[in-house]
Amino acid sequence: TPRVFSGIQPSGGLTLGNYLGALKRFADSQNSGVESIFCMVDMHAITVWQDPAALRHATRELTAGFIASGVDPARSILFNQSQVSAHAELAWIFNCVARMGWMKRMTQWKDKAGKNQENASLGLFAYPALMAADILAYHATHVPVGEDQKQHLELTRDIAIKFNNDFEVDFFPITEPVIEGAATRVMSLRDGSKKMSKSDPSDMSRINLTDDADTISKKIRKAKTDPEPLPSDAEGLEDRPEARNLVNIYAALNDQSVDQVMRDVGGQQFGTFKPALAELAVEKLAPISDEMARLMQDTAEIDRILSDGAGKAREIAAPILKKTKEIVGMVGA
Ligand code: TYM
Repeated sequence: TPRVFSGIQPSGGLTLGNYLGALKRFADSQNSGVESIFCMVDMHAITVWQDPAALRHATRELTAGFIASGVDPARSILFNQSQVSAHAELAWIFNCVARMGWMKRMTQWKDKAGKNQENASLGLFAYPALMAADILAYHATHVPVGEDQKQHLELTRDIAIKFNNDFEVDFFPITEPVIEGAATRVMSLRDGSKKMSKSDPSDMSRINLTDDADTISKKIRKAKTDPEPLPSDAEGLEDRPEARNLVNIYAALNDQSVDQVMRDVGGQQFGTFKPALAELAVEKLAPISDEMARLMQDTAEIDRILSDGAGKAREIAAPILKKTKEIVGMVGA
């Protein structure tokens, strides 16, 4: 049976990239009726330094972001990673399956560790093995993510394959990455060659899910573009990364394909298209940011949702972890 798993790091706020590449699609997946498990990966977040109070806040705010985006804790499992110890236990076993060479090739490791690898945490290096554990602890079959997680999901498959081979079992499923839709890679509003990211020093480069209507409009009005009007069809967007990004955002927010959007806006000047995009973005995002603010007034309720979700997650992961230990040869009842 299909089972969806995905995770988001509670490190700083949520961006439009997280919403379109992940959260919005999680709600769609839940609504299609597939059993869905969503995780605030606080153990991944601490692979780089997090202020404890900020981590607590970000974990709760991220949970509010899931719910405000339409993920229903009564239908999907919502929890934070550190409450379910199976993640850490399985990650250790996978640390012993994965090879150093695989980890060294990860572009996120190279980007995040930068020039000073000697000073990066060991956790940052092992990050993808923990991610494999997140997914495989539930025998998840489908993992919806943005484009930037593709390499990590290939590594998850490699770990499952090597484990199955080493122990001559057919135990862990070979997970399918689900990278679909118009906005699997939302780009910076200031530079069409860079991913929209919460760590970009320029706040004008991104839309935050907590931005108010005026801020959203201003950021879209000031988004970098080229001087030409929009082309007549999607093909004409190919060498125009900034224009393509804005059209992709429009399509994803409006649940349309890029071709459909181009039929309506092809040939328009940015002076016409940007206000339409700003209006659409405010219409879709303002209710989410309002709902997040409302939910954050009752953090005790959020904590209760996370601990309920953790209970359900433990029940699914426990027999899988038990069987894994048996396969590996660990003694225990
Ligand atoms: P994270 O926290 O960086 O991002 C969460 C999700 O948002 C997507 N995303 C984007 N999508 C489109 N355009 C963008 N500009 C953009 N920026 C972020 C990401 O692709 C992701 O889907 N390692 C993961 C978290 C993780 C995980 C997992 C995911 C841990 N364990 C197990 C899936 C399954 C991460 O750092 O995502």
